[in-house]
Amino acid sequence: MQRVFSGIAPSGIPTLGNYLGAIRNWVRLQADHECLWCVVDLHAITVWQDPVALRQQTLEMTAALLACGVNPSEHILFPQSAVRAHVQLGWIFNCIARVGWLNRMTQFKDKAGKDRENASSGLYVYPNLMAADIHAYHATRVPVGDDQRQHLELANDIAKKFNHDYGMNFFPNIEPLVLGPAARVMSLRDGTRKMSKSDTSDQSRINLTDDPDMIALKIRRAKTDSLPIPSNLADLEERPEARNLIGIFAALLDADHATVLTNYGGMGFGPFKAALIELLVEKLSPIASETRRHLNDKGLIIRVLKTGAERAAAIADPIVAEVERIVGFM
Ligand code: TYM
Repeated sequence: MQRVFSGIAPSGIPTLGNYLGAIRNWVRLQADHECLWCVVDLHAITVWQDPVALRQQTLEMTAALLACGVNPSEHILFPQSAVRAHVQLGWIFNCIARVGWLNRMTQFKDKAGKDRENASSGLYVYPNLMAADIHAYHATRVPVGDDQRQHLELANDIAKKFNHDYGMNFFPNIEPLVLGPAARVMSLRDGTRKMSKSDTSDQSRINLTDDPDMIALKIRRAKTDSLPIPSNLADLEERPEARNLIGIFAALLDADHATVLTNYGGMGFGPFKAALIELLVEKLSPIASETRRHLNDKGLIIRVLKTGAERAAAIADPIVAEVERIVGFM
């Protein structure tokens, strides 16, 4: 059985982008893979985090993952900082990855913005830690949204260079799994920007615990253009907002863009948005109530994370110990 690894930042309640781009696929992969799901708090502190808020957001993210169907007894769900192997291998990878490779990472450029000199050095080496997350378990498949593709290519480059430098085939190649019509969910206010927790406008995203009124309000206000919904896929080019809403609808229905266009082509956005609201409420309401239920039992969430960390360490520690031996540590 192939081993799967993926991570998510403890940003509190996940967005619809996290859900359709990643979490929903994680849950499906659990049927026939051995899975590790990691709440990446070490990655989170590459930008400032209030300590009290960080702990609360880790609990919220974990509660939401459980509500979405992540199964912590058959698989492993844990906080990154609780397994030391990530940092140990991350340091070794800092010494493998080349500065030129990191300079090409578009996410660093986006996150650091104009004030690059003032970004943390952790933010710069962030992709090396991400490579360590995966390779510490010899995982071979990594389900992510489209925005993480470049980081996974780097993780493969690091593995190749390590294998080459030490003359052995120690780290396997990893296969990114970027799945479904919503691998890149865009902001509801601007179809050229990714839906993200860091957007200052809450109207730009759906959060998995938004209530039906809030979902309806956000979708009704979602930006569209003045043309009707097209019947052909090609006519969605150059219409990022329309493409985004149709992609969300398709993903929720487990269909593709073309199927949605067959049913809604020629219609205005009014009736389409009404159908989208209904579908979103139907799919998200059970997740919202389950998340709230889990948040009422923080003790259980903490136990899940602690057990997960012990089981994760049992896999990663021997692999990283072997890396340290290969590198020549005493
Ligand atoms: P993060 O926390 O930003 O996002 C978690 C997952 O959600 C996906 N995602 C999206 N998918 C579609 N549309 C969107 N608008 C959207 N926003 C987020 C992301 O692609 C991701 O799959 N660096 C990673 C976490 C990480 C990781 C790893 C992932 C750390 N180590 C190892 C895989 C393997 C991140 O910040 O994801």
